[in-house]
Amino acid sequence: MNAGSVTEAVGTRRSVRAFLDKSVSLETVRDILDKARFAPSGCNYQPWEASVLTGAPLRALRDQMHATPPQDPIEYDFSAPSASPEHHARLHQLGATMYSAMGIGRDDADGRARFMADNIESFGAPVLLVCYFPRLMKEPQWSDVGMWLQTIMLLAREAGLDTCPQEFHSLHARLIKAYLGVNDATHIFFCGMAIGYRDTAAPVNNFARERVALDNHVQFLGF
Ligand SMILES: Cc1cc2nc3c(=O)[nH]c(=O)nc-3n(C[C@H](O)[C@H](O)[C@H](O)COP(=O)(O)O)c2cc1C
Repeated sequence: MNAGSVTEAVGTRRSVRAFLDKSVSLETVRDILDKARFAPSGCNYQPWEASVLTGAPLRALRDQMHATPPQDPIEYDFSAPSASPEHHARLHQLGATMYSAMGIGRDDADGRARFMADNIESFGAPVLLVCYFPRLMKEPQWSDVGMWLQTIMLLAREAGLDTCPQEFHSLHARLIKAYLGVNDATHIFFCGMAIGYRDTAAPVNNFARERVALDNHVQFLGF
């Protein structure tokens, strides 16, 4: 289903973790990325850079990731906020509902290992976008890159496609950069993004997602 409005694109976007075995044309991906160029960025720096893979080059990259342990040291620390009990609870809640939708129990180490391997496969998505940018970019530019990625995710919905952003790929950041010929000294890796057609029947694409109530994170003054 193609989203017909921004509200529909926002409302129907979710992180899809089961894709159909159906290819996505270069024309469609190029069209989305061409439109996403108009995402905002402070000072119009447009710090985002990316590679988009499908077919044999993507298969070869996935094979390399399967054969290689996660890098040490890490590219950046995406788990830091879980040190706060409030944020940790949100992560815990996500894990509980997501693993339960996949039929993976608390102590099912094999199931959790399979989920890691599924991340390498981007859950069967036929296209993987990997995003990186110059190391001299600081916090404001990380945010700019996020806005670009969200723009892509919403445009994907309009095109009838779905996505899953994947910090997971930062565990293989150096491998991916080497594979793509991206200079590790000058560029930091941010994330992957699975792109493809949603398997609407998969339970993992249908569990309820929790969000903090509006008045818990926004205050309104002067209305
Ligand atoms: C930058 C970023 C990285 C993410 N990395 C992963 C990932 O590696 N694997 C995964 O399954 N989900 C990943 N997610 C998806 C989040 O878990 C998801 O956005 C969150 O639980 C909210 O759910 P929703 O996207 O379905 O609304 C990532 C999301 C973002 C924004």
